[in-house]
Amino acid sequence: MEETLVIIKPDGVKKQLVGEIITRFEKRGFKIKKLKMEQLREQTVKEHYAHLKEQVFFMDVVNFMTSGPVVVLILEGPNGVASVRQMVGATNPQDALPGTIRADYAFVSGSNIIHASDSLESAKIEIERFFGE
Ligand code: TYD
Repeated sequence: MEETLVIIKPDGVKKQLVGEIITRFEKRGFKIKKLKMEQLREQTVKEHYAHLKEQVFFMDVVNFMTSGPVVVLILEGPNGVASVRQMVGATNPQDALPGTIRADYAFVSGSNIIHASDSLESAKIEIERFFGE
């Protein structure tokens, strides 16, 4: 069993996809351990995406992630980190496989609906960042 962190980004919330996305994970068998809706602070987003700070699109990502409320969840399941990433799909929705969340609901990397931790190590750090545990 592994825990992983998922964020339904501002575009996912605006498009009223929160229920559909959570349903996909629940139907797959993931357990929701924690769930909250909040407006992210700029500083939190900058920390979360620090690995992108040299990229030209960094401030676009920060502005996008603070453009409205997000839904943050901890999901638990077998091989949780990799399984959730598989369901999320590639960063660029045009490269994401059909049936993944990003392929089904998005077209561009800049608004790709959802975040999921990319390794067990990041999951631990991100759970601590967003839920303080
Ligand atoms: P990254 O951590 O590389 O990917 P992922 O979200 O799949 O773990 O990038 C974080 C976010 O930054 C990504 O979800 C969307 C945005 N982004 C862009 O807008 N353009 C890009 O070219 C890349 C690589 C990311």
